[in-house]
Amino acid sequence: MAKRWSAMVAIALVVIGVISLRERRLATTDPLASERHAEQAFLVEPYLQLGDPPTHQPTRSLTLVWQTADRQADWSVDYKVGADERWRSTPEPAFDRVAMLGVPPHRVYHAKLDLRDADGSVPYRVKKGGETVFTALARSPKDASKPYRFVVFGDCGANSADQKAIACETFKSQPDFVMITGDIVYGQGLISEYLTNFWPIYNADHAAPEVGAPLMRTTLFAAAIGNHDVAGRNLLKTPDGLAYFLYWDQPRSPAGSRAPTPLMGPADRIKAFVDSTAGRYPTMNNFSFEYGNSHWTVLDSNPYVDWTNQALRDWVIQDLTAAGKATWRFVAFHHPGFNSSRAHFDNQQTRLLADVFEAGKVDLVFAGHVHNYQRSHPLRFIPRRDPGGAVARKGELVLGTWSLDRDFDGQTHTKATAPIYLITGAGGNHLYNPEQQDDQASWQSFTARFISKTSSYTRVDVDGSGLVARQLDPQGNELDRFSLSK
Ligand SMILES: [Fe+2]
Repeated sequence: MAKRWSAMVAIALVVIGVISLRERRLATTDPLASERHAEQAFLVEPYLQLGDPPTHQPTRSLTLVWQTADRQADWSVDYKVGADERWRSTPEPAFDRVAMLGVPPHRVYHAKLDLRDADGSVPYRVKKGGETVFTALARSPKDASKPYRFVVFGDCGANSADQKAIACETFKSQPDFVMITGDIVYGQGLISEYLTNFWPIYNADHAAPEVGAPLMRTTLFAAAIGNHDVAGRNLLKTPDGLAYFLYWDQPRSPAGSRAPTPLMGPADRIKAFVDSTAGRYPTMNNFSFEYGNSHWTVLDSNPYVDWTNQALRDWVIQDLTAAGKATWRFVAFHHPGFNSSRAHFDNQQTRLLADVFEAGKVDLVFAGHVHNYQRSHPLRFIPRRDPGGAVARKGELVLGTWSLDRDFDGQTHTKATAPIYLITGAGGNHLYNPEQQDDQASWQSFTARFISKTSSYTRVDVDGSGLVARQLDPQGNELDRFSLSK
């Protein structure tokens, strides 16, 4: 009990410290007072999210989110689109109040930017009480005719030097969006951990390899949830757990696709959490969205989701079928289905969906969980079934056989006949199995590349019916590259 209270007091002190530091700064009269005025307005400065756009429609809006202390204020957001010289205003920003034990109550504001006419950078300004307190440029979503760039990494929010360097390199490369393949924030996805391991790095005020970068105010971030993001779901032990559902604003899971993260703890804490999410729990685990000429399916691969459940499988099948017009189909989740690392070898439960991805013509499947980089050959998988018809497993590992498209080399032969599975889980946390990088005999036969001696991230450039994927180290040096074409 004493331990729990001291943890809660520590969280409260961190949050109060952030507020009071900013307010002390406001009291100064130095030349940077206006900039610091902006700082004091926010607990977390504005960042860009998908929001909840209509399913299977082009993404033509983004949602700006910011966090403040729980005080009444008159907030507004203006933005400029295209050649428009006029500022236009979003609908009045709405807020959700986060009121959970051990954390000072605070507000999460949301304002939707309608970017149907936008093409490029969109200046925006956030006003409080009629005074501009924040300005930035948002990168508008590309339409299906345009080339675009995205970055993918997972297992990142560890407050590490490599996480910061990757954030900075990502910022310099100006992607259109960033996808995180889970384990967004260590160790338990808590509010207090976001304050130290996430916001200051991906939403920093300036870009530097030892700091991070002002990425999230300019660039859309999306994410799948990993095991660490739900590790704080016992609200008795971690009253500020499951911050994913409080701070991310992503498409809600359509009917039939919901697989709620199980909650534990006293009923009043569970109610306080659910109320604070304003409906995002439990509806933000599985979802899809469109970007440019691609369709993205984002899944919760935690073991509490049963991917043998036919209703859930049917939703993925329908989702991929409805993506008919998309040139590219990408899938993102946390636990890899095809992993050669000794670490987490028994966690390969997402193989259960391999046949769905094959039939749905998925091009690339992005995962994390295993803290290194692995690229598979294009592969098809057939699970082994026991006499009763159930899929054979060893732990969570699904047993079966695979067939490989070894003609594909990503250089001269770039048409793949089956999905390629990437593990890009070297986004900032300590690396797994560096000894296996040069020990090819330790790799499963489906693995084509295995890079585990350095942190890394994936950068993909899509141009019509071709794409180039690169794996880069924290300094931007190329570790792997392959092309895909239709
Ligand atoms: Fe993980």
